[in-house]
Amino acid sequence: MKTGKFITFEGIDGAGKSTHLAWLESFLRGKGIEVVVTREPGGTPLGENIRALLLDGRESMHPETEALLMFASRREHVERVILPALERGQWVISDRFTDASYAYQGGGRGLSFERINDLERWTLQNFQPDLTVYFDVSVETGRQRVNTIKTADRFEREKDEFFSRVRSAYLDQVRRFPQRIRLIDSNQPLEKVKESLHDIISTFC
Ligand code: TYD
Repeated sequence: MKTGKFITFEGIDGAGKSTHLAWLESFLRGKGIEVVVTREPGGTPLGENIRALLLDGRESMHPETEALLMFASRREHVERVILPALERGQWVISDRFTDASYAYQGGGRGLSFERINDLERWTLQNFQPDLTVYFDVSVETGRQRVNTIKTADRFEREKDEFFSRVRSAYLDQVRRFPQRIRLIDSNQPLEKVKESLHDIISTFC
């Protein structure tokens, strides 16, 4: 029986997830909740190796290979990290989960919804987060906020049209799961976004 809560953060690159994730972690800890913070692709030793392959800008990859690697990493992550933590009563916050595959591999790369849905059912039996916070920003704002110091990874190198398709696929997911996914307008200043996140979390805990 799972007892902890599973929260995921989503958004296009540059949406500001990392900053808000750090805030949420300390907010929950302050309430005495034990929290495990993790990310995708990655989150396990094998998953982190898969992540390195996926983000390596020198590798080109078929979109289906990309989707399979995302779900291979996710399968390990759920089995070895997420479910065990939830069963111990801990809360898990993951920087991205399956919605990112619908957005990036579906919207961005053009794989069909059915393909991703098949993989989701096969590998996860439709295991879903309890809450997903989707940080919605315009492609332009996301682009401005992406860290320009580090070298762009294989996704960050994509053109604006790619990120518009990713964003609209995320918005489709928001419409598909109005109960689970909460959208925050992240074009607003950081403080405002934090307030919205605080409101969502306060009604949830
Ligand atoms: P990201 O959290 O943006 O890493 P960082 O903040 O360190 O750059 O995630 C890495 C990339 O992986 C991101 O561009 C989106 C992509 N991604 C997918 O394409 N599909 C997925 O299912 C997941 C989880 C991530």
